[in-house]
Amino acid sequence: MRLTGCLQGMTRTMPISADTKGMTMFNWKAEYAVGHPDIDSQHKRLFQLAAELHSSMLAGHGKEILNRVLNNLISYTKHHFAAEEQLMADSGYPDYLQHKAKHDQLTAQVVEFQKDFVAGRTAITVDLLQFLSNWLQHHIGLTDRKIAAYLHERSA
Ligand SMILES: [Fe+2]
Repeated sequence: MRLTGCLQGMTRTMPISADTKGMTMFNWKAEYAVGHPDIDSQHKRLFQLAAELHSSMLAGHGKEILNRVLNNLISYTKHHFAAEEQLMADSGYPDYLQHKAKHDQLTAQVVEFQKDFVAGRTAITVDLLQFLSNWLQHHIGLTDRKIAAYLHERSA
């Protein structure tokens, strides 16, 4: 599914708490820590890169700059997903395929969004950033916490 379609669905079904002035949407919180140092530091970096995209959008930067910032976020997301997938594969994590499918789905949606953005068919909006913020919180709070707990159990 295209991210733009997904966003339309989301705006219909859930309230968007637009954060157009403050920079709180991508503030790291202690509760996001899953207890695995590599995963946690990569998540912090993801929040920083998403916050850069947010500030760039709010500053009204042009398409070229926005695309560069978006690109940094996408590259680092791919790097993070690959690292998590390696951790899961190396440890025989039972939900590997399900978790990887979620990574693949988001990557495909975001890459598709970027294509539309470059072609001038869509824009970087608060809705997009809210979608990313919700996705990150869900990804960390539910799926990644399970990986960290599994790795912790195995090492105990
Ligand atoms: Fe993650």
